[in-house]
Amino acid sequence: MQKTRLETVRAYESRQKESMNPEWKPIYHAAVPVGWMNDPNGFSVYQDEVHLFFQYYPYDMSWGPMHWGHCKSKDFIDWEYLPVVMAPGEPYDNFGCFSGSAVEVEGEHVLIYTGVIEEELEDGSKRTTQVQCGASGDGLNYTKWDCNPIITADSLPAGSSAVDFRDPKVWREGDTYYLVVGSRHSDGSGQIALYQSEDAKKWEFCTILDRCKNEYGKMWECPDFFRLGDRHLLIASPQDMREEGLKFHKGNGVICVMGSYEKEAHKFTREKVTAVDYGLDFYAPQTLETADGRRIMIAWMQSWDANIAPKEFGWVGMMTVPRELELVEGELIQKPVRELDRYRKNRVCYENIELSGTQSLEGICGRVMDLNLEIQEEGLSSFCIHIAHNTEYTTTITWNPQEQTVEFDRNSSGMVRDVVCSRKMKADAPDGCLKLRILLDRFSAEIFADGGRHVMSSTFYTPLDAEEIVFEVQGKANVTVEKYDIERQA
Ligand code: FRU
Repeated sequence: MQKTRLETVRAYESRQKESMNPEWKPIYHAAVPVGWMNDPNGFSVYQDEVHLFFQYYPYDMSWGPMHWGHCKSKDFIDWEYLPVVMAPGEPYDNFGCFSGSAVEVEGEHVLIYTGVIEEELEDGSKRTTQVQCGASGDGLNYTKWDCNPIITADSLPAGSSAVDFRDPKVWREGDTYYLVVGSRHSDGSGQIALYQSEDAKKWEFCTILDRCKNEYGKMWECPDFFRLGDRHLLIASPQDMREEGLKFHKGNGVICVMGSYEKEAHKFTREKVTAVDYGLDFYAPQTLETADGRRIMIAWMQSWDANIAPKEFGWVGMMTVPRELELVEGELIQKPVRELDRYRKNRVCYENIELSGTQSLEGICGRVMDLNLEIQEEGLSSFCIHIAHNTEYTTTITWNPQEQTVEFDRNSSGMVRDVVCSRKMKADAPDGCLKLRILLDRFSAEIFADGGRHVMSSTFYTPLDAEEIVFEVQGKANVTVEKYDIERQA
């Protein structure tokens, strides 16, 4: 059964892929081959290649019974798409193969994921429960385990939910495997459980690492837990957050809980909680560690509340650029993976020029680029960069030095859905100089301010012929602008 279902969806996927217009795909971001994609899953290095799986419903441009799609890369940038690896349908995942992660176990690539079981009750109503399951494979084909499910909610502290128990993130330390998984405490809000195992099949509950206590949203989805510098970070994606100034936006968000960890006692002590990304489209990040010791994070670059890709695309869903994480003076710093630099071509640079009023610069245009700016605040009341601009459309990034904010605004990007279109973040400008690195890839902008201290990622689906970049300066600005095209051939 497992095999036939997979064959059917693989055949559909490879047929449909042919009809996708490559002009409508991002150049250097992982994107769904066809249909719908959400969370990154199983982001891992296996046999010297980076594997990225994803929540996948190839049959429509909206969420449906979850499969696992698959791609891989040697450098985080050039993705090769492989056939879908899991389809739902076993008794332990009949409603979907939800998010999870991957680890190598004795030479095999093991996927640990959430199986969602839907049952019909006697009164005709339906009930779902979530359990953790495994599959193993060789980097191309995977077989779900006969012993599934491997973890059920019975192992959780009394009162925990069996309905919301999902998104295991697994890793190995020495001879022991660990995983963190999201669940709900009896107070209804999220908690993150830690498990350990000797063989990745039999798991023992260790502790609740931290919990929401109804403070940061409700259910905490897609947890990750790792050491960075001299701290431990617990990353989680809470549902139903409330807005808190510029610190947290409403809806689904991503938080970084920083703290200290006593490994023997499994005791995590929270020190501070911050947002990870301030843009409109960033959710469910997952990290891996490379052989050279870098912690790399990738996230779904979309919001649950805004499915805005044009219907004619035939696909919806892409990932952020993978980012290197660092901890500097207690702050989380995100930078695009250094592998991207090899794809930078055709440098255009204007050094220390003065900009005022509305201006564009020769050679600074296009929809796929790595754009770097250093803007001196002296005599400046605001600095706007209009991207994907023409007479009909524009998307605007605005620095307000008085407020110390950067705002992203896609209201005039051609939007026809009434969803949130602008968002602001704090941005420091040490010595009055704001540094911005903006990655554009046709339908997305990732803005790294102040060396990656504050980041915002957003999508906009403006027609591709809008490719001007226009600066609009209130006052005067002394600016250095450096632009590279990004070309897929490294
Ligand atoms: C997060 C999430 C996960 C779940 C998956 C289902 O975006 O809701 O919690 O496993 O998506 O597709």
